[in-house]
Amino acid sequence: MESHILSLTVALLGFLSPCLTRLTPRVSFPMGSPGRHLTCFHSHNIRNTTTLLLSEDGDWLYVGARDAVLALDVSNKDQIHLRTKLDWSPSDKDLDQCSMKGKKMADCNNFIRVLQFLNTTHIYACGTFAFSPRCTYINSETVVMSFQSDEGRGRCPYDPYQRNTAVIVDEELYTGTVADYRGNRPVISRHLSEGNRVDLKLDDTLGWLEDPTFISSRFIPEEEKIYFFFSEVGTEYDFIDKFIVSRVSQICTSDVGGQRTLQRRWTTFAKAQLLCQADNELPYNVIQDIDTLPPADGAPADDTLFYGIFTSQWSVNSGRSAVCSFRLADIKSVFSGNYKVLNRDTLQWSARVQEKVANPGECGLHNASDNALRFVKENFLADDSVHSVGRSLTLVSADSYSHLTVQRVRAANSRHYIVLFLLTESGYLHKVVLLQSGAHIIEEVQVFEQPQPIKSLKLSIPKGMIYIGTSEGVVKIPTANCSFYWTCAQCVLSRDPFCGWDSVSRSCVGISDTPATLLDQDIDRGNVEEACNSVSLTDRTKFGPNKLPGASCPAGELVSVSLNEVVRLQCPAASRLSRQLWERPNSRLSSDLYLHLEDGSLSFVATPTTLGHYLCLSTENGYQQTMAIYHVKQKSSPIAQTPTSSAHPQTHPIPTTQTVTRPGSRLHTPVGTWPKKTKSRQGQTNPTLSVRGPQFSATQPSRNLTSWTKESGWRETEFQDGEPLLAVRGHCHLKEIVVLSVLLVLCLSLLITMGIYVIRPQCHSRTTPQADTPARDIRTPVDQGVLRENEFLSKCNRQASGHVSGLACNRTLTGSNSHLPNTPI
Ligand SMILES: *[C@@H]1O[C@H](CO)[C@@H](O)[C@H](O)[C@H]1NC(C)=O
Ligand SMILES: *[C@@H]1O[C@H](CO)[C@@H](O)[C@H](O)[C@H]1NC(C)=O
Ligand SMILES: *[C@@H]1O[C@H](CO)[C@@H](O)[C@H](O)[C@H]1NC(C)=O
Ligand SMILES: *[C@@H]1O[C@H](CO)[C@@H](O)[C@H](O)[C@H]1NC(C)=O
Ligand SMILES: *[C@@H]1O[C@H](CO)[C@@H](O)[C@H](O)[C@H]1NC(C)=O
Repeated sequence: MESHILSLTVALLGFLSPCLTRLTPRVSFPMGSPGRHLTCFHSHNIRNTTTLLLSEDGDWLYVGARDAVLALDVSNKDQIHLRTKLDWSPSDKDLDQCSMKGKKMADCNNFIRVLQFLNTTHIYACGTFAFSPRCTYINSETVVMSFQSDEGRGRCPYDPYQRNTAVIVDEELYTGTVADYRGNRPVISRHLSEGNRVDLKLDDTLGWLEDPTFISSRFIPEEEKIYFFFSEVGTEYDFIDKFIVSRVSQICTSDVGGQRTLQRRWTTFAKAQLLCQADNELPYNVIQDIDTLPPADGAPADDTLFYGIFTSQWSVNSGRSAVCSFRLADIKSVFSGNYKVLNRDTLQWSARVQEKVANPGECGLHNASDNALRFVKENFLADDSVHSVGRSLTLVSADSYSHLTVQRVRAANSRHYIVLFLLTESGYLHKVVLLQSGAHIIEEVQVFEQPQPIKSLKLSIPKGMIYIGTSEGVVKIPTANCSFYWTCAQCVLSRDPFCGWDSVSRSCVGISDTPATLLDQDIDRGNVEEACNSVSLTDRTKFGPNKLPGASCPAGELVSVSLNEVVRLQCPAASRLSRQLWERPNSRLSSDLYLHLEDGSLSFVATPTTLGHYLCLSTENGYQQTMAIYHVKQKSSPIAQTPTSSAHPQTHPIPTTQTVTRPGSRLHTPVGTWPKKTKSRQGQTNPTLSVRGPQFSATQPSRNLTSWTKESGWRETEFQDGEPLLAVRGHCHLKEIVVLSVLLVLCLSLLITMGIYVIRPQCHSRTTPQADTPARDIRTPVDQGVLRENEFLSKCNRQASGHVSGLACNRTLTGSNSHLPNTPI
């Protein structure tokens, strides 16, 4: 048997690797990036703030913490305000008993694990209470605990590290948890039932649950059913020891148990396997989290989708996770189908077709005959599995996701898009839009630094806010920051359904702020040329050739060098999905002379042949923009050199490959980004180093660069001079460049002089970045904000900042003007 499994596994393995498409977040915001502010709530005496409950209007966030329940006022966009802290600690006697039982003191506190609205005035809360769970009622207005308290057995785990789930429907509490001290009596049960309704639980003689880990539960009003999601040992797979399967199970809220058979037990319990598996691959069999996406307006409840994160039990897939979605209609049809039969003697399951005495999982069986109830009691495992929508994976990631929430967003084009927020174990929140062409990770934002044993994620759709609760505190972050994208191109390339380009205010704005119909956006294709067309037209009139503002002229940067000096030119990445490439007007970049570094920069030794112009281009999704232009020339005389040029590190020993890795993140290898195929006229491929793509961090690179190249300056100037685009536009061709390079030099000189003249007075306060880290070897100038940001980044995320930032500046000459003026050109 074992060898059979082995060969099966090996066979499956072969299929695995090629099927894994790696997804790279387009933009990355390390902790503290100004482009993605986190609002934090921390307090030195409040810990383990991991159970979150949002009020319906999104103004209040109730937090179950260690020995406390908090009421946080989150109605203000940029603040979290602690309104009330309700202490709820075990007594010294409880603590003594807990430690006498051999438990660690640190686990003997009261960790709040259930926090649910009971009715309009009260919250029901349960905590582990020093391994002796207790529940209580809390007035949601005053946050005062009532004197009434319940025993928490079956409602809350004993062990704070054990997962559980709870939901309140019509003032009754439905829970999935372990109901004993050792943690081996799992139960799905109902509590707080009154009148002719009785509390119910699973019939435990049968092993209806096999060592489960409870994940989530959800009430679907149209079905009058509660669905529980969990993983457990799949005893129907007798060929593998401890094969974990993910399950959905259901119970009816109308259930009141049987009259003789199944008294005070569920008569409506049924379970089925959830399959998150692509063809020919090992399944992602262990569910980690699941969230519900209600049907679109007007669609039937059957279209409700459940999005879940699944990981794999096998080490070949360890660290990876997959997202799958399941339709309610599919779940229902599996539950209304056939059920497996358990042979009592051999404990083997079979799919023997039998006469149906009753329909397991059907609501309203309480008056049914004993015979019928005995049948449902024994037939609870559906024969079919619930397959994910399309029998495929929504996405697979090399990141290990732990939590998700999902939202449907109506974008500027009036179409609806599904957006997932996925939390990684390493503390990044990924925002993913699901497109026809697959998943696209719009951004990642770091929300905590230390791995967290227990954490939670909540989305407030009315407020457009995400909350993350960890042991250290609560953070909130808006679902989008559209103003981070400064140009139409960036706004469109982001493909963020929350954002659109407003051509009137010329800014990227949130769809909720402006009538979405007025915004330009192209989520599906991210086609800049089309979506931003109107914009460039208006720009052209705005910055007509004669009104060309000198400040936005991309005259490029002059780099004065001595012969035989090693020169390094920076090329900032527009995003982590962009590909950077270098071009020279009159010669090719042979790999003998040029070293393409992994951060996109170019390094070479200054010789007569390597003097001249260099263009750094960034291509993303078919859209090309110029990121930097350099003119490398020989120093003419010592006088030409100003003191700052030495501080401006254009020379380096030839750098060895930098290994830039971000801690805790395994995914972000932008495979095949750059420079797989740098254009080279002899059909030679250039890369001399094996290169990882640029580690792009969010520093708003192309801000005004795009506007330069796309919208103003050069382009117009060139036309004005009667020259075709020269080397400035990305789609220009090298041949033309060769012919026109001389003109380019002349033009450049003119523009530089002009630029300096205009800008110089404004630039004195700007500092040239220090030469201490290569990360800040910035060849293009920096405005104060970006510089600060950059300092921050290098402080907080040293490894990750290996590129960047310089590019983002209106004033293309500023940072470098210090060594320009005296240089005769
Ligand atoms: C959004 O991005 C802009 C530009 O980087 C920044 O100034 C602003 O503070 C950000 N806002 C938030 C809420 O993160
Ligand atoms: C909510 O439940 C609590 C506890 O059972 C009870 O005291 C309170 O009166 C209820 N409130 C309403 C509005 O029913
Ligand atoms: C079930 O039987 C009880 C009496 O035994 C009766 O009152 C009730 O209406 C019946 N319910 C249904 C759904 O038939
Ligand atoms: C509580 O928080 C501490 C860190 O402050 C962490 O080490 C511990 O694991 C947390 N315990 C639980 C049950 O979340
Ligand atoms: C970029 O250009 C826009 C308008 O073109 C301007 O409003 C903005 O201040 C500029 N950004 C920087 C960083 O100078």
